[in-house]
Amino acid sequence: MNSDVQIAGDPLALPHLLPPVPAHPHTVAGFAGLARSIAADRAAWAPLVRYDATTRWYHRLRTVPARPGEAPPGYEVWLLSWVPGQGSGRHDHGASAGVLTVLEGELTEHGGTTTGPRTLTAGAQRVFAPGYVHEIVNDSLRPAVSLHIYSPGLTDMPMHPRSPLRSAGETPIGRDTTAGTAATAPEILAP
Ligand SMILES: [Fe+2]
Repeated sequence: MNSDVQIAGDPLALPHLLPPVPAHPHTVAGFAGLARSIAADRAAWAPLVRYDATTRWYHRLRTVPARPGEAPPGYEVWLLSWVPGQGSGRHDHGASAGVLTVLEGELTEHGGTTTGPRTLTAGAQRVFAPGYVHEIVNDSLRPAVSLHIYSPGLTDMPMHPRSPLRSAGETPIGRDTTAGTAATAPEILAP
């Protein structure tokens, strides 16, 4: 089965062709562009980052409510840090769609059961629709920082059992400090 990306090309691969970032994006490309514009302003986010070896650290950068009676829905922007070994646990994002952008370091995404692990280096972006299931871990030896946009704002992050591949030790990782507890402290708390 063909996807939109296969047919029309990946808009994220051609950022110079994207339109200017609107004040309130309402498309995947719009949110991806917003994430890139925030990522480019390193002086604004870098001083906010904290690293915590005991729990995942996250900071809400922005909350934009929905305009009453109008689309699009509101969105939230989160800044997260991941020390080596920290992970989100396997989860989805409830009714929210999202964009994940790695700002610094390297993260590994474990997607659906038929998808192998995906290494995300600085500048990499992932977009996901409501209900998408994944797990993010820092398998590297240095801290990582990521930016997450959720629309509408993340209110629910159901946890899922670890995939058979992960359970079988396909990708060894260290402490997965938030697995099983991330419902109250998602990827953001997630992604
Ligand atoms: Fe997530």
